[in-house]
Parts: sequence; structure tokens; C-alpha cells
Amino acid sequence: MLTAKEIKPGIWWVGGVDWNARSFHGYTTECGITYNAYLIMDEKVTLIDTTKAPFADDLIQRISQVVDPSKIDVLVANHVEMDHSGSIPAIHAVAPDAQIYCSAPQGVAGLTAHYGDLGYHGVKTGDTLSIGRRTLTFVQTPMVHWPDNMVTYCAEDKVLFSNDAFGQHYASSDHFDVDNDLAQVMEQAKKYYANIVQPYGMQAGKAVAAVHGLDLDMIAPSHGIIWTEHIPDILAAYDSWTAGEVREKAVVVYDSMWHSTEAMAKAICEAFVEEGIEAHFYDLKVNHPSDVMTQFLDSRYVCVGSPTLNSQMLANVAGFLTYMRGLSPRNANRIGLAFGSYGWAPLGPKGVDQVLSDCGFQKPLECQTINWVPDQAKLDELQAKVKTMIEGARA
Ligand code: FEO
Repeated sequence: MLTAKEIKPGIWWVGGVDWNARSFHGYTTECGITYNAYLIMDEKVTLIDTTKAPFADDLIQRISQVVDPSKIDVLVANHVEMDHSGSIPAIHAVAPDAQIYCSAPQGVAGLTAHYGDLGYHGVKTGDTLSIGRRTLTFVQTPMVHWPDNMVTYCAEDKVLFSNDAFGQHYASSDHFDVDNDLAQVMEQAKKYYANIVQPYGMQAGKAVAAVHGLDLDMIAPSHGIIWTEHIPDILAAYDSWTAGEVREKAVVVYDSMWHSTEAMAKAICEAFVEEGIEAHFYDLKVNHPSDVMTQFLDSRYVCVGSPTLNSQMLANVAGFLTYMRGLSPRNANRIGLAFGSYGWAPLGPKGVDQVLSDCGFQKPLECQTINWVPDQAKLDELQAKVKTMIEGARA
């Protein structure tokens, strides 16, 4: 029998653990995924969020450890996306009288489109719901990261049910930050922000500012571990990420056909190392764009290389740039550098250079190209140019 975990007196974790999930619509989830749902035992038995549909049985089993699921009076659906709403039909089937609360109008419209009209109660920021000893307060967080998102705050227990915000794709048998490897959890929180929340950094920044004003003992997201002792750490990280802060750090990203562009990438990476700058080196044949974006998030320097194939950049590089562009990173304070080798026309690196321009990077050094195979003198010259670029950026 699956068990529920009491995370505060009267509040139970009843979610699903997807230990072997390795992809969340294209973002690699090497640590698995959890779909956290929370059961509050009060005069009105209240469920905060559900799980992805395949975990409906797990959810109901865990709820059954605490209360007969048919006794659920209130279901708060903080978010329409199906990893949290997918088990609403299953809960509705066992507790047809449960009243479902979601944001208005987007949550109501989204849930209706997915599951039909189940008599949703739309709520707005500042609306409250008494469930007995506790009163829940709803705060809409639109575009963090869908139009319908909201969070739910319980002042009596000082718990914020934050849904996607502050989450991580991280499966664990221990639910709290203090019981897990903090560095690993923070890295997964960063990956989650970089690949899911980043396009909506401005809106997320406003939501985080509001969270700073709350009296908090616990942030209970819908993915990953629950924040208790390390609330200041995750809030500080979100402050930095939502502000688009970068530091002296470089990512060098490339694909190569016959190792010429790879040799250029090595020379560029070494320039950063010799200048004392943290550098990360990614061959796109063996690295996933979602991992690159995690390190990209706080990097000031982004160097992207491709040779020319059939008058284009390599497909791996085009795919990375498309993915990066979709995440709308704030690039005005980043320095971009395109590079690559070519046989008879430098169209691959020039295409990369155009994308970097379109994405708003500063480009103090023009696109670097080398015909055919670079010799050591050309690599030394490239390295020297990159060092000069770095020194200029620091001045
Ligand atoms: Fe975890 Fe936007 O769903």
C-alpha cells in the first residue's frame, strides 16, 4: 500500500513519484519527477492539486491512508497543466460533490476545455476560502508559467502551496530539503527555472516579490522537495534568476563535422580558462540543450559554433538555437560569439551569428571563421582575440 506523509499537523503529502521519467516535453529529467498533491484535514477536507493521470491510483491510495477519498469537500487546482490536473476526473469520480477552485477566468476556461464543466469556482488574487480552522488565500501568478497559474497560501500553517514555482524535477523518498543533497536539489531547481519558468522571468519576479512578504515556514511546490530550512536559499536564487543576473562565466556550445569547429571551440574555451573564468564546454552531439540552458542561465559569455553543411549550420546547432530562443533569455547583458569552420562559404557560422544578433546579444567580436582545417597559428590567433574580447568586457 502506498503511504501518505504528514508534512505538518493535519497536512499530508499524497502525490506521485515518477522515478523513471527522463523527459518532460523534451527537457531531460535525469533525477525523475514528482507530482506533489497535498491533503489538508480540516472541517472541509481539502486537496491541493492532483497528479498526472497515470498516477491517479497512487493519489487515491495515499489519500485513503488518511481519509475516505469520497469525503473530499474541496479541490484546489492551482494549475491547468495536466501534470497537476490530470487526476481531477478520477477525484471527481470518487468525490463528485467536491467543490473545485481554480483561477478565474483562465483556470476555469482551461479546466473546462480539458475535463468539461465540473462546476468550477473561479477565484482571483486576494480571494479567500475558509475550510474550518484554516483560511486559504489565493494569489494569481499568471504566466508563471501558464496564463492560469495561481498559488495558495495557508496563513495558519505558514505554508505556501506554490505549484510549479520553486519546483524541481527531482524524485526522492525524502520530502524535505534538509533530508536531501542541497546542491543537487538547487541544481535541479535551476534547471527547472532555466527550462520552464525563464520565458516569464518578469512575471515570476513579481510573484517572488509577493512571496517575500509572506510569513513562511514551508514552501510546498508541486514538483520535487519541500522547502523548509532552505527557504532563504531558494528565494535568493529566484531573485537572481528572475532579475536575469549573469556572472563572469562562459558556455561554449558547438557541433563539428571533422573536428575543425571543435578545435576552435577548444581554443575559445581555453581563452576563458586562462582568463580565470569558469567555462563549460558542450558538444551538442552528446549534450542536451536543456542541460546547456542550465549553465547558460547565469553565464555572461555564450559562444556558439557550427561548421557549414549544405549552406546551413548543423541541425544540432539550429535545434539548440531554436530552443534557446524560445526560452527568451535576457541577453542584453550577455556577450555572444559565433564561430565555425567552412570549406567554400562560411554560411554556417554566419547563420549562428545572425541568430545571436536577433536574440539581442552584445557582440564585441565579429563572427570567427576558419577555412578548412585550422593550424596552430590560427588557433592561437583566435584565442588571443577572445582574450582581448574578455579583457575589453571587463574594463
Ligand atoms: Fe508542472 Fe506547468 O506544470
